[in-house]
Amino acid sequence: MDLITPLQLSSLEPVGQGAQKLVFRHPDDPRVLVKVVNPRFIERRDRKDRFYQKRRRIGHHRAFAREMIEHLASRALTPGRLAPCPHIQNILGVVDTDLGAALLVEAVLDEDGNLAPTLRDLVESGRHGHRSRQALETFLDWALTSNVLINDLSADNLAWHPDGHFVMIDGLGDRAGIPIRAVSPWLNRLYKRKKIRQLREEIGMEKGPGRSRKAVAVAIAIILALLGLIATQLELLLE
Ligand SMILES: Nc1ncnc2c1ncn2[C@@H]1O[C@H](COP(=O)(O)OP(=O)(O)O)[C@@H](O)[C@H]1O
Ligand SMILES: [Mg+2]
Repeated sequence: MDLITPLQLSSLEPVGQGAQKLVFRHPDDPRVLVKVVNPRFIERRDRKDRFYQKRRRIGHHRAFAREMIEHLASRALTPGRLAPCPHIQNILGVVDTDLGAALLVEAVLDEDGNLAPTLRDLVESGRHGHRSRQALETFLDWALTSNVLINDLSADNLAWHPDGHFVMIDGLGDRAGIPIRAVSPWLNRLYKRKKIRQLREEIGMEKGPGRSRKAVAVAIAIILALLGLIATQLELLLE
């Protein structure tokens, strides 16, 4: 594989796409994905935020920088071990492409060699069964107890490995200007607990506090309406 000549991606069809990146198969090795920041995202961001454009030292590559740092943090926990943590996407390096700098990552593939389904795909197609539910609990236990920082624990960012475990393929790191969670394990856990709760709500595993609060509000409104009705009836009776 030639890692020095810039890759030509603009004529290829992306195999994956989220809010921020375009994901391509590496032309020389289908086990490798090439992630670039979507040029449309850059354009939109720059138009909206001139300050962002001028001041950010790492600019639009911040998402890559965050992923890299968490990748290294997880490796630091197990020095000397060759295989990276099974729960986060393996990063292979940074290369140049005709769409800008790109992150090379190991693809999570299904048994047929296609991109593995995400947790969202499993849920939406009714394939989120006993095995993947148990694997999700194992993943969430790891997410909570490990030192990694997480900012976007959405169902799109968890790929289902055919071995039966989930791999976080995006959403690692801290987006905050002052990254206090990196120095406070307590705050980090607190934040991750919230993210885990939100993920459970997203995939319908738990009633969200939002929904239960809404239910309480509706119940109070009904009780008040009933009390109002009784009061008017009493008034009519006493007249
Ligand atoms: N390592 C990977 N293995 C398998 N699929 C991946 C991998 N990385 C990304 N994808 C696919 O590409 C999509 C978009 O990638 P992602 O890195 O999440 O971009 P974005 O930042 O735009 O959300 C994912 O939802 C997933 O379907
Ligand atoms: Mg994503």
